[in-house]
Amino acid sequence: MATEKPATAKKAVRKAAPARKAAPAKRAAPAEPVANAIEVSGLRKSFKGGVDAVNGVDLAVREGEVFGFLGPNGAGKTTTVRMLCTLLPITAGTARVAGIDVVRDPAAVRRKIGVALQEIGLDPIQTGREILELQCGLYGMSGTRAVARAKELLDLVGLADAADRRTKTYSGGMKRRLDLASALVHSPTVLFLDEPTTGLDPASRVTVWDEVRRINESGTTVFLTTQYLEEADQLCDRLAIIDRGVIVAEGTPEELKSAMGHDVVTITVAEAVLGTARAAVERLKGVQQVVEERNALALYVDNGAESIPELVRLLDRADVTANAISVARPTLDDVFLKATGRRLEGDDETGEEKSA
Ligand SMILES: Nc1ncnc2c1ncn2[C@@H]1O[C@H](COP(=O)(O)OP(=O)(O)OP(=O)(O)O)[C@@H](O)[C@H]1O
Ligand SMILES: [Mg+2]
Repeated sequence: MATEKPATAKKAVRKAAPARKAAPAKRAAPAEPVANAIEVSGLRKSFKGGVDAVNGVDLAVREGEVFGFLGPNGAGKTTTVRMLCTLLPITAGTARVAGIDVVRDPAAVRRKIGVALQEIGLDPIQTGREILELQCGLYGMSGTRAVARAKELLDLVGLADAADRRTKTYSGGMKRRLDLASALVHSPTVLFLDEPTTGLDPASRVTVWDEVRRINESGTTVFLTTQYLEEADQLCDRLAIIDRGVIVAEGTPEELKSAMGHDVVTITVAEAVLGTARAAVERLKGVQQVVEERNALALYVDNGAESIPELVRLLDRADVTANAISVARPTLDDVFLKATGRRLEGDDETGEEKSA
């Protein structure tokens, strides 16, 4: 697991480096281990009927990180989150959240965490303010403290102006932000967000990202699941990619992309000649891997632009006509493709059809 890599340059630019960034140097000394906000080992969940939704997951999320859990529909993201939040019994393995074992002391874990689940359940008749004040009351705050805390949270998530409107008049993005505020009532150490921006338009998505960053900057560790590559790329310090209950890649976005080799050359050909094309292009010098898609080949090569003349020659010799050839820097989608043989984006409909 990539637990000892230094912070990325991107992250350093985005935030003033907090004290935790100096942590890796200390990790060698076993007497003084750096705290992990979440530690998961061999975590499994088998549902009745034989679905192994989570199939041996290991994770270490450091304090203060925004950690992304990226995967397609049905990958096991929500199941993992629900186990970590003590909402679902685990089948095997161990999990500690904020230093507490989720099986041994679920009540203590719950006091340390905030959760915004994938399905939002807001009372449509209540106003945003009423919902938050009620939530504060549930955490044992007195009337005046509850009023003050609700106001603070409404400001934090940018809902002060809409505070006294019923939530049925809120947009999807506003509902998400209110849900986020509800999860923050008791100032949790670790915040779990299950697909916080799914279904939001791009502008609302960016607003939610801003809230998440702000919350993280105040010291809260964030564990968020997402199906969006850009979200993982922009928001997360580190991420794990999960597919069919198994982690297939882990690291900072930069590490994952740079581990891909330098460039991705995509060659679009007719489906019928894919095999012939593959055999031809595999002869290219410097090709690290070739992944087949339905009507395209993705080649991981040292230098994409320089390889094109040779690729064209190889295809020509094999009598294959390329419909298009393009060169790009690797994205997290390429990381996913290389690890699983499938694309993550645009795969929503087919994500579950190929279960092994
Ligand atoms: N209560 C349940 N009983 C049986 N199977 C379940 C149950 N909950 C989830 N599953 C199955 O476990 C697998 C993982 O589901 P999960 O909800 O964790 O996926 P996910 O990554 O959150 O997907 P999505 O992006 O669609 O929310 C799926 O195959 C799902 O059908
Ligand atoms: Mg889910």
